[in-house]
Amino acid sequence: MIRSKRVNQVYRPIKKNAGLELDPIFNNGRVYFYSLGRWALFHGLQALGLEAGDSVLLPEFICRDLLAPLNKLGLKIHYYSLDKNLNPQLKGIDLPVAKAIIAVNYFGFACDLSPFREYCKHHQAFLIEDNAHGFLSKDPDGNWLGCRGDLGIFSFRKTFPLSDGAALYFSKEVELVKEPMSLAPREKSSRDFLSPKELIRNVGGFFGPSGIQLATKCLRLARKVVSGKEISSADHDDPAPELEIPTELAPLDMKKYLSEFDSVEETAKRLELFNEIGELLKGQDCRPLHSSLPSNCVPYSFAFFSSDAAIGRIKEVLRKKGLECFNWPELPLAVRKNAPDIYNQLWLVRWVW
Ligand SMILES: Cc1ncc(COP(=O)(O)O)c(C=O)c1O
Repeated sequence: MIRSKRVNQVYRPIKKNAGLELDPIFNNGRVYFYSLGRWALFHGLQALGLEAGDSVLLPEFICRDLLAPLNKLGLKIHYYSLDKNLNPQLKGIDLPVAKAIIAVNYFGFACDLSPFREYCKHHQAFLIEDNAHGFLSKDPDGNWLGCRGDLGIFSFRKTFPLSDGAALYFSKEVELVKEPMSLAPREKSSRDFLSPKELIRNVGGFFGPSGIQLATKCLRLARKVVSGKEISSADHDDPAPELEIPTELAPLDMKKYLSEFDSVEETAKRLELFNEIGELLKGQDCRPLHSSLPSNCVPYSFAFFSSDAAIGRIKEVLRKKGLECFNWPELPLAVRKNAPDIYNQLWLVRWVW
C-alpha cells in the first residue's frame, strides 16, 4: 500500500509552538466554548431568545443529531430542500415563517448566504451559520466561515484529533436576550487518552485512517471476548439521537490545545488530500460534489456521489491508499421517508474521525 505523507498526517497533525491562534478569527464578535457543536447551538438559540413553539428552518440534508438542540428547546422544525449540487432552494419558494434559519457550510465549502440574508430581512429572522465542518475556511471574499451570520457554530473536534471542542460565535451586531451559559475550560485528563475512542485514535491513528479501522476491529473483538456480546450496531429508527444531546461536559481549553497545531501545515494537508483524492477517483464511477477548490476553502473531506453498485470498487481504490469513505448524513426520520435519491448517495472520504 502506498500512502502519501499527508494521509499519514491525518491523525498526527503537524505541531508547532505558538501555532494556530483563535483571536484573529473571532475578534469581530463574541465567542463561547463548548464540548459539542450541538451544545453550542442549544445555548446560542437560548441566548437569541428563541422559545418553545418558535420555528426554525433547516436543510433537509443534515445529520439528524443536529435536531436534538432544537427538540430540547421545544422548537418547531421546518425544512428547505437542496438541489443535486446541495445548493439550498430558497428563491421563489413559499417557505414557512421562522425565527431563525440555518445555513450549512457543507464540508468546509462556503454556502452562498445571499438568499438566506433575503429571507432574514423579509421575516426578521436570525441567520445561523452551521460551520461545524468549516474551521479555517474563508469565503472567496476572505470572510471567515462561521462568522458571517448572527450566530455561528464550530466543531473543532471534526477537523482536529481532539476528544471534544466546539464554539459558539455571535456577531457584534446581534442583541442577546441573555448571556449564554458556558462551563469553564478544562485541561486534558485520562479520558482524553484512555476512552475507547481516544485509544483507537492514539494507537490506530498512528497508521492513518486504515489503522483506525484495524484498531476499531481489535477493540470490538476484545470487548466481545471479555463480555461475550457483540457490540450492537446503531438502531437507525431510534428517535433518541434527534431528541437528546450527550451530557454536557466542560470543554477542553481550545485556545491552549489548538495553539499546538500548525495552521499553515494543516491547511496545506487538507488542500493536498483533497487534490490527491480527486486524482485518485478520476475515472471511477462517481461524481465529485466539487471538482475544484474555490479560493480560501480549506476542505474538511472529499465528497462525491456514488450508486450502491459502484461504491464497492471505489472503497477498494481508497483502501489501497489507506483511506476510507462513509455515507453521510444519517438523515432526520422526517426527511428519510420521501428523500430524493441524491440525499442518500453522498459519500465522504473521511479524514479525522
Ligand atoms: C453539519 C453539522 N453540524 C453540526 C454537527 C454537530 O456537531 P457536534 O457533533 O460537535 O455536536 C454535526 C455533526 O454531528 C454536523 O455534521
